[in-house]
Parts: sequence; structure tokens; C-alpha cells
Amino acid sequence: MVVLAFKEGDLVVFADHRVQFLQRLARGGRLCTHWGYIEHDNVLGQEPGSLIETSVGKKLWVFYPSLSDYVMKMPRKSGIIYPKDLGIILMWADVFPGARVLLGGVGSGALLIAILRQVGATGKVVAYDVRQDMLDWAAENVAAYFREVPSFLELKLGDIYEYQPINEPQFDRVILDVPEPWRAVETAFSALVPGGIACSYLPSIVQVQTFVTALQEAGSFGLVETVEVMMRDWYVAGRAVRPEHRMVGHTGFLTFARKLSCQG
Ligand SMILES: C[S@@+](CC[C@H](N)C(=O)[O-])C[C@H]1O[C@@H](n2cnc3c(N)ncnc32)[C@H](O)[C@@H]1O
Repeated sequence: MVVLAFKEGDLVVFADHRVQFLQRLARGGRLCTHWGYIEHDNVLGQEPGSLIETSVGKKLWVFYPSLSDYVMKMPRKSGIIYPKDLGIILMWADVFPGARVLLGGVGSGALLIAILRQVGATGKVVAYDVRQDMLDWAAENVAAYFREVPSFLELKLGDIYEYQPINEPQFDRVILDVPEPWRAVETAFSALVPGGIACSYLPSIVQVQTFVTALQEAGSFGLVETVEVMMRDWYVAGRAVRPEHRMVGHTGFLTFARKLSCQG
């Protein structure tokens, strides 16, 4: 029998349909909310999906956090890539278990965590950021999620635009969340295996145009494609069935391209 009961040190999320609170369970610990507090001791030994009452009777379920719960609630020091876009990145850039991925722009680590979970221990992730404080912040978020920084992750302080592939493997995927990815076209070309996929996340369509033009002018990438993901929640209660009034209107655009054979 799989033992799922919560124990000390577990990461959990207290949730109802509208709110979520991420917590690391500790004996004697307490979650304080504007609906009163929850003693962690009352949660230890309970199963995921249990209903817990705050000190003033507000009921919240408790679960292990999904990856989406985690990245939305983890501490941030930068904008993050939202789960709706992370899902498409993993699928459209075809990030597979065992893949070798070069990442430019670590930030708070949301994209990094999604990639690490997908490639797994047989993969390799080399992740660059120009800021050491960002690398440190992301390392903490990664370690909090995986319990340690995975051995198949290398965090590097450096400029992805100036990437020099000395003692680096060839990568299956290059994924960029940096402001000027057109300056990393040469990086992507030199780092990728033939047929490898480059992906860039950009908030502005003007940036996308510059990036796509650079890819086209380089002549070394094909199947260039830009997409935007719009996700709308629906309210469903009896016969009241309608879109939610609010949605995340815009996050960013995703551009994907395949490296062509050097042999032309
Ligand atoms: C928006 S944040 C990335 C957020 C991250 N994708 C996430 O989901 O948490 C962009 C990051 O790119 C880094 N950056 C900017 N220019 C860079 C460059 N030339 N090379 C490497 N990192 C760079 C910034 O320091 C910043 O941490």
C-alpha cells in the first residue's frame, strides 16, 4: 500500500476554489490566513484531499501541490512563465525524458523546474543567467521543490548571447526567456544538434518580429512558428454555465524553430 499521509517536511497546499496557501509542514508550525489559522500538527498524518478547518471554521482542502500550484505560489524575484505557457513549451519544444536542454534566463526558476521535471535524471540541463542573485533564488526554489538541487542541473553565471561552447555537450533543445533572443540565434545554432528545437518566450510582438526576422536571415532554422496560448476558465454550477468574468489576458508569445542540417 502506498503511504500518502502527510509527514513533517512535506510541501502542501491548502486550497478551495479561489485561494491557495503553500506551506512546508513542520511540527508546531502554523499557517496564518485572514480566515484564522491552521496548526500544522492537525494536518500531519492526514491524507491528501482531507478537509481542514481554520481556527474560525473556514474549510480548506489539503493536497500535495501540483507543479502548477507550486510555481504560482513559490517566492518570485522576477516575472515567471505561467503554467499555461509552460505546458505548451514542453510539448511544442518536445522536451523529452533524457533530453539535454540549454536554458537562457533562469529568473525565479518556474520554467527551469518544469524542464527539470520533464527531462528527469537521465537528462541534462545547463541554465544561464547574468545575475547571481537570480541563480541563487532559483536554486532555492528548485531545492524546495525537488528536496535538493538535482545533480543533472548546472547553473551558470553568464550571458547567453556570448555563449562559448567549451566543454559543453550538444543540446537537444535551447529554450530562451531573455529580452533580446535575436542576439542568441548564433548561440542556439552552435549549441543545438541538427534538427534540435529552439524556443523563445517573449512578452511583446515587436520582440517576436525581431527574433523571427533574425532566424529567417540566419537561414539555419526552419519550421519557424509563433503561438499564443489563451486559457479561459468556465463557471459551471447547475444551469449557470458561462465563461468566468476574469482571465489572464496576456502573458507572452512563444516562438519555436528547428535547426537545419549544417550540410544544407
Ligand atoms: C523574466 S526572467 C526569467 C523567468 C523564468 N523563465 C521563470 O519562469 O521564472 C529573465 C531572466 O533573464 C536573465 N537575463 C537577461 N539577459 C540575459 C542574458 N543575456 N543571458 C542570460 N540571462 C539573462 C535576467 O537576469 C532574468 O533573471
